[in-house]
Amino acid sequence: MRVGYYQYRPQFGKVSHNLNKVVKKLGSAAADLIVLPELAFTGYYFRNKAEVKALAEDPGRSVTVDTLTALCKKQNFRIVTGFTEKARDKYFNSALLIGPRGVEHVYRKLHLFNEEKKWFDEGNIPLQVNRIGPVRIGIMVCFDWVFPEVTRTLALQGADIICHPSNLVLGYCQQTMLTRCLENKVYAITTNRFGYDNRPQGNLRFTGRSQIVAPGGTLIHRAASQREELFIMDIDPRLARDKSITPHNEVLRDRRPEYYKALTQKKGK
Ligand code: ACM
Repeated sequence: MRVGYYQYRPQFGKVSHNLNKVVKKLGSAAADLIVLPELAFTGYYFRNKAEVKALAEDPGRSVTVDTLTALCKKQNFRIVTGFTEKARDKYFNSALLIGPRGVEHVYRKLHLFNEEKKWFDEGNIPLQVNRIGPVRIGIMVCFDWVFPEVTRTLALQGADIICHPSNLVLGYCQQTMLTRCLENKVYAITTNRFGYDNRPQGNLRFTGRSQIVAPGGTLIHRAASQREELFIMDIDPRLARDKSITPHNEVLRDRRPEYYKALTQKKGK
């Protein structure tokens, strides 16, 4: 299976410019699955909710989605992309799985980071995995990495590959994802953006270093911090079906959930 990421620098608010850039870059890419960054077409650092409202799209009536669907059809691949989603009167920091026939799944970021809480609604769709032929992919967005429950839940549902669109501003996600992949024996494709969102309320710098990690926690490839890169490689997703750590231990089978009750109880906000 050929998988990859496209690390680039979206320009804030310039949706069609960003979309054209992606279409041009991926227009000759040979792959089965390509992961794009979080909020891949609008940019990230919104000043207020009005800006989100002005830029968000309903995936069912979206030029962006239609264009990406046509790209998937032409190249016969799938894309997982961050997406600024409008759903009736709600606005989500979402990720879409798009294939040659359109949107196959919508994931809405469960764990909003910092000021995102002012702009977005919290995700409200249960974690699930989706099939690409025999391979199962799970989706999470950026800051979800801080919550190991997300990767674990997707792994328990059978994910072979975690697709992880990101706009990382902190520096330590990339290293942590090695552990997520080791403890769940899954692949992860973390696609981060780079560059800055220079906005009236301040500047945010994004940390790049997109990466692909193998089920043993081995870093297969990592991009530079501040450089554009389209990277595509062959992986063997069957390696994610071997959950053994020693001849007598498997990371999912050996769990003792009867002792983990606190995990499913909500702490007061
Ligand atoms: C993040 O969740 N975009 C840091």
